[in-house]
Amino acid sequence: MKIAETPQAMRDLAEELRRQGKSIGFAPTMGALHEGHISLIHAACAENDVVAASIFVNPTQFGPNEDYSRYPRTFGADCSLLETAGCDILYYPEASVMYPGDYETWVSLEKLPDHLCGLFRPGHFRGVATVVLKLFQAVMPHRAYFGQKDYQQAVVIRRMVRDLNLFTDVRVCPIVREKDGLAKSSRNRYLSPVEREQALVLYRTIRLAIDRITRGERNAEKLLEEMRHFISRGVPDAKIDYVSIVHPDSLEDVPVAEDGSVIALALWIGNTRLIDNHILGADFPYGEEK
Ligand code: PAJ
Repeated sequence: MKIAETPQAMRDLAEELRRQGKSIGFAPTMGALHEGHISLIHAACAENDVVAASIFVNPTQFGPNEDYSRYPRTFGADCSLLETAGCDILYYPEASVMYPGDYETWVSLEKLPDHLCGLFRPGHFRGVATVVLKLFQAVMPHRAYFGQKDYQQAVVIRRMVRDLNLFTDVRVCPIVREKDGLAKSSRNRYLSPVEREQALVLYRTIRLAIDRITRGERNAEKLLEEMRHFISRGVPDAKIDYVSIVHPDSLEDVPVAEDGSVIALALWIGNTRLIDNHILGADFPYGEEK
């Protein structure tokens, strides 16, 4: 696996590949890789001649009181996982190169950040959209792979790509979960054993909603009330950022849960913020809990 550490070095590789007529698949990450990330590499391998990943813990998408400094950094292990998965190029730029002291150019979306995580993480999606555009400029991917785990992020990136006429095809891959249902996340390693058990409440809350919907309840307000109640009964200490049922593209709340609507939630388990979501009508893993 080649490692490119500057935008110029990455861009040189990408331009050469494009000259050779090779297609480039790209999975941007912040490292601390797990099987969720690796599923993106596999998807990219299946559809492209060459696969690139990036590892960059992007400071501009973290709020002042968020976990930027303690975000797990596991570069050695990440490199072996990427190589084993078939990644050809790793783009690994430094923060000071990505954001020099007089940096002042941003990509911000008008309305999509006024929902879900955006309401609780001001500036987050500005940081995400900006860094993804910068990464795309260096990697010049034909296709880029994102996880449904970060549903709003995928919607934001799709919109940015459309609005700015970028030439990259955005692919969104299914959520990879632990056997017991917890969505894999780099932040799961913050959880104590007790919190790890409590964290299952996200998956269970989605399952509860699906069960209720299958039995005929479609009223979003009623479903949300039951979900909130289920959370506060199961894990009274969990702080709910949001539990929502939204339109898949606009991310606006819907009054009636229908196929295609998205159930999304964000909870604090101790000091760890976890998110999960499900697109109604899609498969959801059942009965795998220990
Ligand atoms: P990060 O949290 O490292 O995630 C990188 C990619 O992996 C994202 O597209 C995310 O949705 C996907 N991913 C994470 N957990 C997953 C899971 N359990 N199943 C499937 N996919 C999963 O998201 C970011 O980094 C950053 O915001 C980034 C896009 C790199 C910009 O800085």
